Amino acid sequence: MKKITVAMTALAAAGALALAGCGGGDDTTTAPPSDGDNTQQPDDGDATEGEGFAADATIGISLPQKTSQNWVEAEEMFLAGLSEAGYNPIVQFANNGASEQQQQIESMIEQGAKVIVIGAVDGSQLSSQVERARDAGVKIIAYDRMIQETDAVDLYVAYDNFQVGVGQGEALLKGLAERKGDGPWNIELIAGSNDDANSKPFFEGAMSILQPKIDDGTLKVLSGQTTQAQVATEGWQASVAQNRMDSIISGFYGSEELHGVLSPNDTLARAAIASAQAAGKDLPVLTGQDSEDDSVASVAKGEQYHTIFKDTRGLVDAVLAQIDLAQQGQPFNSNAEVDNGTIQVPTDFLTPISVFQDNAAEVYANDEARAKIVADNS
Ligand code: GAL
Repeated sequence: MKKITVAMTALAAAGALALAGCGGGDDTTTAPPSDGDNTQQPDDGDATEGEGFAADATIGISLPQKTSQNWVEAEEMFLAGLSEAGYNPIVQFANNGASEQQQQIESMIEQGAKVIVIGAVDGSQLSSQVERARDAGVKIIAYDRMIQETDAVDLYVAYDNFQVGVGQGEALLKGLAERKGDGPWNIELIAGSNDDANSKPFFEGAMSILQPKIDDGTLKVLSGQTTQAQVATEGWQASVAQNRMDSIISGFYGSEELHGVLSPNDTLARAAIASAQAAGKDLPVLTGQDSEDDSVASVAKGEQYHTIFKDTRGLVDAVLAQIDLAQQGQPFNSNAEVDNGTIQVPTDFLTPISVFQDNAAEVYANDEARAKIVADNS
């Protein structure tokens, strides 16, 4: 039985991480030269359940853009974990968007990948690629983000994204009560990029908590922008969120306090904080997600109110274990099903954890890098 271990990522030593806009260059990474021939030979086997495939098979990892730290971590951890387990990994970012990702997936099929793991730029634009992969006997695992409108997804592995949103909604209400006196409170809403299938469950999860409070007057949205379409952030770009917050604050909060902002991840939370500070406003209660280094420090200092830990190591380990099952011809494990518009996709859901100033040290106790950030900023 192949033992999957995820080598301790070099990430902890990597320090500053290149995110969107500063990545640049060719983001194709393959396994470091091994003692053997490391070229990717097309293989005549296929990944049909029951037969499995070679222990040194090629495995494709197709990632979107580096819009947050978790994607940079995923690259390092997949490369280390797959190489450590004896596979031949192809790990690529689609920095130029959905069409580049389509080409990269086609190429992974041609290079004989037995499993392709996909963090989709746009989950609605990969149907023909994953169906071609399925016809070639390749297993498809949707990673973090669902691939929609196709029956060719074998498994979805993610932290429960609706629960991420629920946690954000609950955290906003908790922070308002703790930091902003009695209600009613003024809030604004930010959602993720519309091409990211996760943006909908994030927003709907949060609004399942917040909408009743908007309806009963506990929460007021002075801009009137309360639908996902109105509050979406194209490409998860911090500048887009900051510009939108700038105009909302100048337009609606001249004499009013902005008590809180629902942010779907850390990058956009920090953008909202920058906007409030630039306008000379008191720090709003800010939610987040991803436990990015800068936001872990901010939460520890009592600035950003909340983030969520979706431990990338846990997510990558879960995928590596599923790949190992496929290699042995075993069926994937799942604990849920998610409708992708065509089928109920077998799903391996992990549980996201809400992080606040008072539980950060405990939550990150097994994450050396983040634990140090908390200790250094408390
Ligand atoms: C989402 C992901 C989040 C967030 C966002 C920005 O799909 O689940 O962790 O970081 O992408 O890239």
